[in-house]
Amino acid sequence: MDALVIVGAGGHGRELLEVVEAVNEVEPTYDILGVLDDGEPDLDLLATYGVRHLGPVSLLAELDARYVLGIGSPYARRAIDRAATGWGRVPATLVHPAAMVGRRVTLGPGSVVCGFASITSNVLTGRHAHVNIAATVGHDCRLGDYTTLAPGARISGAAVIGDGATIGSGAVVRQGLTVGAGAVVGAGAVVIRELPAEVMAVGVPAHHRPPVPQLGWY
Ligand SMILES: CC(C)(COP(=O)(O)OP(=O)(O)OC[C@H]1O[C@@H](n2cnc3c(N)ncnc32)[C@H](O)[C@@H]1OP(=O)(O)O)[C@@H](O)C(=O)NCCC(=O)NCCS
Repeated sequence: MDALVIVGAGGHGRELLEVVEAVNEVEPTYDILGVLDDGEPDLDLLATYGVRHLGPVSLLAELDARYVLGIGSPYARRAIDRAATGWGRVPATLVHPAAMVGRRVTLGPGSVVCGFASITSNVLTGRHAHVNIAATVGHDCRLGDYTTLAPGARISGAAVIGDGATIGSGAVVRQGLTVGAGAVVGAGAVVIRELPAEVMAVGVPAHHRPPVPQLGWY
């Protein structure tokens, strides 16, 4: 069994704990050492998963363990991944047993595919791409590094989701389009035109608003 830590003990981190539990039920694969978080996680809640808060994220430098990033922000995921790589750590890639991932799909290191998500054929993801519950990704798509597909997002065939982009819950991206790096697509939006980098797009059809405030993807 591979030793594993989850970085981030909030809601998403606990969702990843559930993914690991489901993976282990099918085949014992990971020995969860605990969670790392710079904040003060709810220890009672964590105890229900049978895991401990080991300490701050910087502890990863000393742990001989793989890691997954239970953090929604692509910026935070990128920063922690870069530090972890510098410390010589190697991420794990998680696929919930109830996800459908085609045989010609290549998931980048640290990527996570949650339950009921589906990724069909000839799809490539970058590092730490997160495909949340019930999100779907059609043929020939490319998901960049640190991309997030929120629950129920629908990415049609041959779309390109740029590094660090976030596609909100239930949003749709039409086939063949590119969503620029660091862009944020709001919940329920329908993207029918190319989106530049670092914009926020909402509505049906989606129109984009001024750049996302915290930006600076590059
Ligand atoms: C798009 C989003 C990122 C904007 O968040 P925000 O920067 O805090 O924006 P605000 O809530 O201040 O809204 C700004 C404006 O956009 C509108 N807006 C925000 N989200 C919208 C959405 N999903 N669809 C349509 N309009 C939206 C607001 O009505 C507001 O309009 P106004 O300026 O005319 O009043 C956010 O609303 C969103 O949809 N996030 C995705 C959530 C999600 O999928 N979460 C999954 C978690 S697992």
